[in-house]
Amino acid sequence: MTRHFLSQLDLDRDTAATLLDRAIQMKREGFRSRQLEGRIFALIFEKASTRTRVSFETAIRHLGGDALFMTPRETQLGRNEPLKDTARVLSRYVDGLVVRTFGQEILEELAEWGDIPVVNALSDKLHPCQLMADLMTLKERFGDLNGLPVAWIGDGNNMANSWLESAALLPIELRLACPEGYEPDPLIVDAARDRGANFLLTRDPMKAVDGAKAVNTDVWVSMGQEDDAARIRSIFEPYQVDDALMAAADPDAIFLHCLPAHRGEEVTESVIESPASAVWDQAENRLHAQKALLEYIFS
Ligand code: CP
Ligand code: NVA
Repeated sequence: MTRHFLSQLDLDRDTAATLLDRAIQMKREGFRSRQLEGRIFALIFEKASTRTRVSFETAIRHLGGDALFMTPRETQLGRNEPLKDTARVLSRYVDGLVVRTFGQEILEELAEWGDIPVVNALSDKLHPCQLMADLMTLKERFGDLNGLPVAWIGDGNNMANSWLESAALLPIELRLACPEGYEPDPLIVDAARDRGANFLLTRDPMKAVDGAKAVNTDVWVSMGQEDDAARIRSIFEPYQVDDALMAAADPDAIFLHCLPAHRGEEVTESVIESPASAVWDQAENRLHAQKALLEYIFS
């Protein structure tokens, strides 16, 4: 059976927990292997990327595979070749697709029509690879995720949705503070609730961070939503992660941000550069978490 990773919910709980441990072990060992030797991956990126692209290309090469980077600009994707045709053609050449795109349905269509694994490298709805690195970072810092209070401050975007899916998989205690009209996807909220996730939705950032061990945020304007930028700024100002907000969290709390960050918007310079900031480990962990994921998909 082809193992896709379009959402974290493509994993079961035990697999998710095992992958985090494996990623930590791979990091400790500086893991290299030839297990993907002869395998070639097409990285199709319809949006900009620094971390995801480089960490995937590096992860693939650390495991002995190779990667081709594609954008719509220089391929027929930009000239509306149907996705189902692209999926079938690429399946004849390469062994896996790593795709950053807009609609989640694009990933689903590629998975349906191709016969090779498809990995979600970010969609408007979810950013599951990032969350594997974020959960790995929590595990590294705190050891046990059981009941770990984690705050999400800001937009109910792809990252917030993926945090909800994380709470559906692993026993963290998630609190999301989002402004009115910027809540996470209601279908994902319901699915997380149905799966017994431990989470709270509030408008109050102070309530979300109270005693939290990790305080997370992300850009106020995600890729593809730039038209809204001016209006969003005034709505999100109360949701900036600053020293006062961090002071309301646990004294050992870490700050997380998937990056890129906008200092003076969603986070202050003092917070992102503080000793509490775990963002560089978090970014590094993309590499290790994706190595563990690729090993699982191709094992
Ligand atoms: N966090 C993240 O996905 O970064 P990039 O957009 O640089 O890939
Ligand atoms: N929410 C952001 C994450 C970037 C890594 C975006 O989609 O632009």
